[in-house]
Amino acid sequence: MDIKQRFETRGQGQVFRFWENLSESEREALAQQAAEIDLDELDKLVQTLVKADGEQAVLDFSQIQPAPYTALPESSSDQDLWKGARERGEQALREGKVAAFTVAGGQGTRLGFDGPKGTFLVTPVKKKSLFQVFAEKILAARNRYRCALPWYIMTSHANHEPTVAFFEENDYFGLDTDSVSFFKQGRMPAVDFDGKIILESKSTIAMSPDGHGGALRALKRSGALDEMDAAGIEVISYFQVDNPLVQAVDPTFIGFHLKSGSSMSSKMIPKAYEKEKLGHFCIQDGTIMIVEYSDMPDELCSLRDHDGKLSFRSGSVAIHMISVSLARKLASGEGEFTLPFHRADKKISYAGENGETLEAESANGVKFEMFVFDAIPFAENPLVLETSRLSDFSPVKNAEGVDSPESCLADQNKLARVWLENLGVKVPSSYEGNIEISPLYADSLNSFRSSWMRSPVALDFESDNYIE
Ligand code: UTP
Repeated sequence: MDIKQRFETRGQGQVFRFWENLSESEREALAQQAAEIDLDELDKLVQTLVKADGEQAVLDFSQIQPAPYTALPESSSDQDLWKGARERGEQALREGKVAAFTVAGGQGTRLGFDGPKGTFLVTPVKKKSLFQVFAEKILAARNRYRCALPWYIMTSHANHEPTVAFFEENDYFGLDTDSVSFFKQGRMPAVDFDGKIILESKSTIAMSPDGHGGALRALKRSGALDEMDAAGIEVISYFQVDNPLVQAVDPTFIGFHLKSGSSMSSKMIPKAYEKEKLGHFCIQDGTIMIVEYSDMPDELCSLRDHDGKLSFRSGSVAIHMISVSLARKLASGEGEFTLPFHRADKKISYAGENGETLEAESANGVKFEMFVFDAIPFAENPLVLETSRLSDFSPVKNAEGVDSPESCLADQNKLARVWLENLGVKVPSSYEGNIEISPLYADSLNSFRSSWMRSPVALDFESDNYIE
């Protein structure tokens, strides 16, 4: 049966309704797109998410509790625990057991920046791009631990070519070209409210990225998991493209992950206020999970402990350690190991009667996405580790306001001042300039201390400072 007949027998024949009017190359392109679609999977999604009009699993909020987490060290015995974790992580790095992984397939609609988000210029003095910041953090870790530390970057169909071109134009920011791999994430078709696949034009299906949870399948499909197995890599350090403050390669986090026998670990920060838009780490019947901020009832968001702290304070910063073995299980969908899809109702451009593309005025269809944090309930001994906001999290999501280029710039400046003051270097309160620290000079307070001891920098409080 050819692809057209297959779609017709599954009630999706409308995808080929302009077939007779298409050129040979248009037909080929359409057939190729159609071949990307797993009709069995789509049928299930239509039944469970479109026709049943809801998410697959409904949470019972009366049973939900805040998830336990490992808090930042306070006592000296905590300090020993953290030091031990750090040493274990450093050993794993030296043994070449770690890969870095950036998900960069998002559309960045809120930022409204034209181009792959990783090419956005983010640092205060040198105006480095997000990709350059991560590249330098990875290079610093490679130099420090003398390890291969390959870097995998997930792109989308829309931004793959410009992403690769950006690395080429910038000589891979000093990294060996064969130590950085790019692969595209998967796509899902959008359907109307009757479950029919939407055509965007005569010869194109309305397809969109399958969410950051698609990363696990894409790692497998691209051959990255096989490469990791062959290279003896056990742990994937996962972070998002929009957060230049992330400790992309954090030995302490790696060490905690390995020591606790976890197959997926996550960093948390205490939420700054009740309605902060971060997913919440929760536990239900012994299973740790993230509940999205939009799903969390107000009364749980505002619940407080005796000491006045928010009970559900653990906010997710989308930084994870994922064991290669768990990624493989979830990517293969072995047994129960399948990430759920979520439904998002959107305005979707569609093909009119004559095949012309029309804009929708209100939501006219459904997109399907997977979220990487839905992997946590499948993990063995999932660990949640506290981090301090400034040392790990200041994403660039919005054009202005919270989590914007401006707030991120302020946080980068603040972090530099905190590190300097920690070493006893006074920054005059009247100083209004920018301070930027090259990740190759330091990518943590520890490495800042060592570099400063070796080569302190004379700061000029009459202008901007770049510490390298
Ligand atoms: P966001 O949820 O912030 O989405 O992605 P976004 O698409 O980048 O931005 P908006 O919502 O359109 O404004 C968080 C991270 O997950 C990646 C993004 O690139 C970012 O690093 N992501 C998201 C993917 O890699 N693929 C996706 O399909 C979605």
